[in-house]
Amino acid sequence: MDACSLVIFGATGNLSRLKLIPALYELDAVGRLPKEMVIIAFARRPWDRQQWVDEVERMLKGKFGDALDGKALARFNQRLHYHHGDLGDGESYVALRDMIKNDPALPNNLIFYMAIRPAEFGSVIEKLGVNGLIEEQGGWRRVVVEKPFGYDLLSAQMLQAALGKHLTENQIYRIDHYLGKGTVQNILVFRFANLLMEPLWSRHYIDHVQITHAEPAGIMGRADYYEGAGALRDMTQSHLLQLLTLVAMEPPALMDAESLRDEKVKVLKAIRPITQNAVHAHAFRGQYTRGTVGGEAVKGYLEEDNVAPHSTTETYAALKLYIDNWRWRGVPFYLRTGKRLAEGGSAICIRFKEPPHHLFRNTHLERMQPNWVLLGIQPNECLKMEMQVKLPGLEMRTRVISLDASYRKEDEKESDAYEDLLLDVMKGDHSLFLRYDEIEWAWRVVDPVLKVWSMERDFINTYPAGSWGPRGTYRLFDRDDQFWRHSLDVDGSDVSNEVF
Ligand code: BG6
Repeated sequence: MDACSLVIFGATGNLSRLKLIPALYELDAVGRLPKEMVIIAFARRPWDRQQWVDEVERMLKGKFGDALDGKALARFNQRLHYHHGDLGDGESYVALRDMIKNDPALPNNLIFYMAIRPAEFGSVIEKLGVNGLIEEQGGWRRVVVEKPFGYDLLSAQMLQAALGKHLTENQIYRIDHYLGKGTVQNILVFRFANLLMEPLWSRHYIDHVQITHAEPAGIMGRADYYEGAGALRDMTQSHLLQLLTLVAMEPPALMDAESLRDEKVKVLKAIRPITQNAVHAHAFRGQYTRGTVGGEAVKGYLEEDNVAPHSTTETYAALKLYIDNWRWRGVPFYLRTGKRLAEGGSAICIRFKEPPHHLFRNTHLERMQPNWVLLGIQPNECLKMEMQVKLPGLEMRTRVISLDASYRKEDEKESDAYEDLLLDVMKGDHSLFLRYDEIEWAWRVVDPVLKVWSMERDFINTYPAGSWGPRGTYRLFDRDDQFWRHSLDVDGSDVSNEVF
């Protein structure tokens, strides 16, 4: 792997503190970073290098506590540089260019990481371009763009045009950190490295699919971003739709980046458009009010700092989608995400249909339990299959058991998604990054919902922090026997649908 200089815009912000710096430290600690690689913080605070090194230490202590390894930290510190600059000021970019050019310790392969507000991506890339930082002279140039890519289809097209002025598609890495999660990649292995499931993986046997992302955390002081985004843009348009494509895609011809992304795009294209008058039948939004999470009283969304007093920004969004293709026609995909929910977790739950003929009619088996395949993404990385077996004894009674094919053994450590993805950028591998057409098609899916919600500004359903979301979302379900599954444990399917 080539040595490179990684320039982080927004190096003192949340993303850098919580994800990027810890991931880089971990990679360094296990010897995965090229020896000469350096990390350059581009930030507004008038700091010198030592202040940045101290700040990084605070970030890492916050994340790893006592597990922070002093030796590894000292080695990591050697890689840190600080460039005091203003995103809007051309001179800051000229100074950055000169600094990299004149200091032989700074490798001339450059990665620019946009850990900044999405509204600033375009102008920063413009400034990099006009100040000669993107020209590939004596080394490569790569730009990592965080999500959301635009805030609707039109703005995504405009942003793409702005990037296209200075960058080739090959230089752009549009990140969706869900694709870096081990269990997410495991969906492909589960489906395509095992023959067992594939014949069952279609409308003939699958009743419906649920994709859930729930978090107990609130907006964590990010109102300036979140107020303009909301849950549908923040989670569904990107992460949840990506999960859906992996569950629903056809086997790619090859496992290379283009073949993989071709298949994902086909799924997104096949999603039935939600017409404006069908939005209420397909989408449900909510906003948390004050409540209790993990035993602690927490504020409602409207009381969070910098949230507008009558904001109708959704902190919960649920969506029903159909994929109109040969494999999936008629199978609902239910997607939901929410902040300040009862528990944290991301999972894909796939419910199978009931057997076509009820052979056990005259026995104690009053009601058959359907089979489920459960893919836990976090915090329980697991892969389970629920089946019915006969209970020992003279009578014909059954119970549900869960076959556990979890992919990680207890002593195996999971790496953070950002570790994988940062390494991929350094290697120049695009497989786990989004191609522009994926983003366009994903916006086409959510745009009609966003439009209707932006017109309906007078009312939003609410839910108390610490609950499972607003009442009434069951209206999205096609049938009475479908309901949200909140747990991956066997009795998780017993949750009644009355409340939700
Ligand atoms: C981010 C969203 O992309 O994903 C956040 O902006 C959200 O609002 C986060 O909390 C969830 O990621 P993870 O990896 O914690 O599930």
